[in-house]
Amino acid sequence: MNKIKFPEDFMWGAATAAYQIEGAWDEDGKGNSVWDTLSHMPGVIQNGDTGDTAIDHYHRYKEDVAIMKAVGLQTYRFSISWPRILPEGTGRINQKGIDFYNSLIDELITAGIEPIITLYHWDFPQALADKGGWMNRASMDWFAEYAELCFKSFGDRVKNWITFNEPWVDAYAVVFLLGGPTIEAMSRANHISHHYMLSHARAVEIYRQLYPGGRIGITLDLSPVYTEADSQQDKIAANRFDGFMNRWFLDPVLKGSYPEDMLAWYREKQVAPDIRQGDMELIQSNRSDFLGVNYYSRTIVKAFQDEPILEFKVIENRDDSWATNGEVYPDGLYDLLIRLDNDYDHPLLFITENGTSFGDEELVDGKVMDKRRQKYLQQHFEAASRAISKGVNLKRYYVWSLFDNFEWIYGYSRRFGLVYVDYNTQERIWKESAFWYRQVITDNGFSL
Ligand code: FCB
Repeated sequence: MNKIKFPEDFMWGAATAAYQIEGAWDEDGKGNSVWDTLSHMPGVIQNGDTGDTAIDHYHRYKEDVAIMKAVGLQTYRFSISWPRILPEGTGRINQKGIDFYNSLIDELITAGIEPIITLYHWDFPQALADKGGWMNRASMDWFAEYAELCFKSFGDRVKNWITFNEPWVDAYAVVFLLGGPTIEAMSRANHISHHYMLSHARAVEIYRQLYPGGRIGITLDLSPVYTEADSQQDKIAANRFDGFMNRWFLDPVLKGSYPEDMLAWYREKQVAPDIRQGDMELIQSNRSDFLGVNYYSRTIVKAFQDEPILEFKVIENRDDSWATNGEVYPDGLYDLLIRLDNDYDHPLLFITENGTSFGDEELVDGKVMDKRRQKYLQQHFEAASRAISKGVNLKRYYVWSLFDNFEWIYGYSRRFGLVYVDYNTQERIWKESAFWYRQVITDNGFSL
């Protein structure tokens, strides 16, 4: 038997996000987010589901922290709902919202669980969306105000911060959902992504002034890119996909600049963002302390000249191993971690999300035998451990997710949790994978 052991200082955790678990969508003075608006529009979310109640974490956080403690989590990643503490996005503070997060943080610390907070996990205040949202350059001032309020309210106890979750998805996924990049959509997405980078840099700057001893970073969804054939054209296309999805964010947050090849390409296609004087200096002087990596799957691409802007095509070879979030490909995590270490000067890395949802989540006789999730996690933990043994500076692992929850446009139809939630009774039931994860944490490893 092969024993996998993680380093002494390695930390195990799980991740959630506010809109996916909290519920209480209009309680205690909370303002609306764009997800409240979206989920109330007919036909947008599968089965007409909404996050109105979600898993009622807002009222059940004590019970939920007790579950985290019982599973043995050493750290917990959650996000703050911006409109819960600033109902109009800026200006008026909702003290009850601040109180909720204070209670949650205190509960976690009492349980011996280290909190790490994501400031922005997509539930943008509707009031700011009405002012042009992230397309508006003022968004960096809005975000700076919100970030500063969070740092000042919670920063005495919270020492690790993530500014954005998966900015690529938030800016670009819509481009694809709407049927592929048009000049207008790509240019819009590139503007938005530049505003994310500026907002990120502003928040980093503010945080460092307030709490020089803490750490602040960002979470990116990264996908290593491969080609099917060994053709030169396909390799060029793969490099462009890598530039489009990975380097476009990695380079500014870790190197302080945009990748030259992508900037030139976007300029030629007339979709480049509006980079103004001082922007790159701000980004350059506020690079991240750590990188949060969300890894779900790899991407295979080929050259495709008919696609007018990016000139590649993503290939999906769907087989039995296909899960909600793509092909199961643990070696992709290994390749990605090694690449980050090589190309970005040995950065401090946390895996801030990794997990899966297959369709095998039935509750039978009070049990959920989710063997495929367990296998998935085991294979990915093993890949991470291999990367660590090659010298990669990976220090934490957050499983997505602790609980089943509201999976965005899929509503409640996709279950990602280690813990099953009965949405009728809000009962939480440990899946087999939760028992297994508890053992992994206790042993700081596992046997293969
Ligand atoms: C990620 C999101 C997270 C969750 C998982 C399955 O893209 O960050 O909120 O939906 O996918």
